[in-house]
Amino acid sequence: STGVTRGDDGALRVAGLDVRTLAAQQGTPAYVLDEADLRRRARHYREAFEQAFAQVGTGVDVYYAGKAFLSVAVARWVHEEGLRVDTSTGGELATALRAGVPGVDLGLHGNNKSDAEIEVALEAGVGRIIVDSLVEIDRVAAAARARGAEPAPVMIRVTTGVHAGGHEYISTAHEDQKFGLSIARGAPGVDGEPGDSPAMTALLAVLARPELRLLGIHSHIGSQILDPSGFTVAARAVLTLRAQLAERTGVLVDEVDLGGGYGIAYLPGEVALDPDRIAKEVASSVEAVAAELGTPLPRFSIEPGRSIAGPAGLTLYAVGTVKPVRLDDGRVRTYVSVDGGMSDNIRPALYGAQYHAVLADRVSTAEPVLARVVGKHCESGDIVVHEVQLPGDVQAGDLLAVAATGAYGRSMASNYNLVPRPPVVAVREGAARVLVRRETVEDLLALDQG
Ligand code: LLP
Repeated sequence: STGVTRGDDGALRVAGLDVRTLAAQQGTPAYVLDEADLRRRARHYREAFEQAFAQVGTGVDVYYAGKAFLSVAVARWVHEEGLRVDTSTGGELATALRAGVPGVDLGLHGNNKSDAEIEVALEAGVGRIIVDSLVEIDRVAAAARARGAEPAPVMIRVTTGVHAGGHEYISTAHEDQKFGLSIARGAPGVDGEPGDSPAMTALLAVLARPELRLLGIHSHIGSQILDPSGFTVAARAVLTLRAQLAERTGVLVDEVDLGGGYGIAYLPGEVALDPDRIAKEVASSVEAVAAELGTPLPRFSIEPGRSIAGPAGLTLYAVGTVKPVRLDDGRVRTYVSVDGGMSDNIRPALYGAQYHAVLADRVSTAEPVLARVVGKHCESGDIVVHEVQLPGDVQAGDLLAVAATGAYGRSMASNYNLVPRPPVVAVREGAARVLVRRETVEDLLALDQG
């Protein structure tokens, strides 16, 4: 995060707070969030997109994708910065509601929402439910009918066939995966016949239901995207579908969501997508497409998660053991074990994600060694940082900081090996505040019914 500096004696400081103080007060491992940095990123995305889209004569809403990391405080922060909150489960929805975010500023996603989740969303008056299948259209309509209130505001999530993102598991708009309704292909069973795409079928189905109000079309193409071209290709496909629907029915839907996925830097030397640049590029491309199609621009929305929370967080670990291992090629790799691991950051094991670690409690002039930072879990894939140069005198009791863990760290944490999950601590102007407390073994045992 931008708030990370080194003090005079070489120890790392987050937003002015010495990590040794943090570790002494909060214990390790701990997720540390720089509040000002997270807020600044939220604001930056909102302002960049607002400006760029105003230039082409339309508006944009920025939703923070809560799956990256959501707590009551974080929901409040992003809302204070003028963002809305995108939720993908009842748990995220409840968290945003507890933060006091008004229902109209919330969206609900999910490819298999339960009736209970749909019910809570309607009760809260969410601004939009993003529908992901034909079956769900009936489900939301039935829930809205049972309530007998206003029609439920829905968007249809479509897949544009665009391949984007850092890893197969996090790329979401190609055909052979579970999300969305295809723009391109006929429904299975009618392939080869002239017929509507699943996306068009779904849009028509929503228009036919008086219990539903069709807001627009949603497309999310993937995550950790560093090549901006996918966004413009997807936007063209969505705007084209919108124009086709208008031609067919006379209904020109008001809104188009272009999803999240803006990539960040995990390693020194990597370059994140620049919000100003991507906003301008997308805005000018949608302007051109709309002119080509002869349709006015819709209002847009986007859903960044990682790019807001990710760089604002780091994980602080304590070193427990240091073990040099002789490799087949004669080199030595120093295995540095820390007090967390794959239970607080599954991304290296799940996606082969790369991270960077630094010695945090001091600086050292010792010759660097080839190190691998590993956790305390009972498998060899329990790697925190595959490869990093650390000072050769790194030792038990040292603190290591792993950068850019603010997104998809705590939110994907587990209790593997019955390890309690670390706290999330926010730092602002030199002062720490616990956002989510450390789990204890007692918490875990409290679930165990004997
Ligand atoms: N909107 C929708 C509909 C999404 O599915 C996602 C992410 C986002 C927005 C936010 O994407 P972001 O801006 O954070 O890239 N666990 C994986 C990432 C999974 C992303 C799932 N959907 C990881 O750790 O890389």
